[in-house]
Amino acid sequence: MKRVLITGGAGFLGSHLCDRFIREGYHVIAMDNLITGDIRNIEHLFPLPNFEFYHHDVSKFIHVSGDLDYILHFASPASPIDYLKIPIQTLKVGSLGIHNCLGLARVKNARVLIASTSEVYGDPAVHPQNEDYWGNVNPVGPRGVYDEAKRFQEAITMAYHTYHGLETRIVRIFNTYGPRMRLNDGRVLPAFIGQALRGEDLTVFGDGSQTRSFCYVDDLVEGIYRLLLSDYAYPVNIGNPGEITIREFGEEIIKLTGTKQKLIVKPLPTDDPKQRKPDITRAKAILGWEPKVSRAEGLRITYDYFRSLPEEELYKAAYHREFVKK
Ligand SMILES: NC(=O)c1ccc[n+]([C@@H]2O[C@H](COP(=O)([O-])OP(=O)(O)OC[C@H]3O[C@@H](n4cnc5c(N)ncnc54)[C@H](O)[C@@H]3O)[C@@H](O)[C@H]2O)c1
Repeated sequence: MKRVLITGGAGFLGSHLCDRFIREGYHVIAMDNLITGDIRNIEHLFPLPNFEFYHHDVSKFIHVSGDLDYILHFASPASPIDYLKIPIQTLKVGSLGIHNCLGLARVKNARVLIASTSEVYGDPAVHPQNEDYWGNVNPVGPRGVYDEAKRFQEAITMAYHTYHGLETRIVRIFNTYGPRMRLNDGRVLPAFIGQALRGEDLTVFGDGSQTRSFCYVDDLVEGIYRLLLSDYAYPVNIGNPGEITIREFGEEIIKLTGTKQKLIVKPLPTDDPKQRKPDITRAKAILGWEPKVSRAEGLRITYDYFRSLPEEELYKAAYHREFVKK
């Protein structure tokens, strides 16, 4: 049985990856300090003999006994509301955390796949963004803690590949959505659905002409799985190129939820990217991958998930675990 370590395994994407690797017959070890994740995302896996959970901070030394074939580094606060509140932890997990994973991979002779992000392109001067674009990031702006951590993470991963011959893969993930996102994580999709469910107006930041593209989580996981098993070490964009303005998206959510509320406008936050759309030519060519789930279908599944949550979830403030305060 192949063995895979998934850091950030109790998070939104990490937990879906755990499910996928379990389905594929792997022994899965999830490692997470639960700073933004939730144990409930993986509790259904606990009875399985081929699943283990380590409650651990990846930015500290990591050890896993036995063989490892693959390490997927997904630990990192991922939404602006999180990384703006815990900037140092964000920088650490993107630097010390990946360093620990790469060291472990060398000892185990494992292949490493890292979760990078479309944020490495910053506020892009090129549209759509392909992997050869180097980005437009403000290192000292508020989002710099996340964007630069991810850029460093790519650089150190490539250095281990080049200088140590380690097998590495880099996925640049564009906005992804689906069940197990947190309603209160500040990202536009759960924010809109949460507001609709609470009977509040939907907040658009700026004039709403900024664009985003949304990839359904099952499509993303399929792309990651294919990339891991491919022999391609350079970054690959995985995302859905279907582009939509935030205003249009808000209108779609109003229609989907049947809310009687309207869109209201607030000032745009600093360094908010104006456009986001992946060029997925490389993923198509190398992985034979493209998204399959339409936005209408993915939104319906996600909305049903949010509606199934207990009512108190609707009123929870963005949460950060107790040790953040230390
Ligand atoms: N969701 C997206 O649209 C998206 C887009 C681009 C990149 N990504 C990347 O994918 C990864 C997962 O994102 P997500 O949306 O699932 O976020 P998430 O917050 O749901 O999951 C991140 C997980 O990492 C854990 N974590 C954070 N720091 C840790 C540490 N030091 N040690 C151990 N665990 C730690 C958290 O507790 C959480 O369970 C992140 O690396 C993120 O940057 C996500």
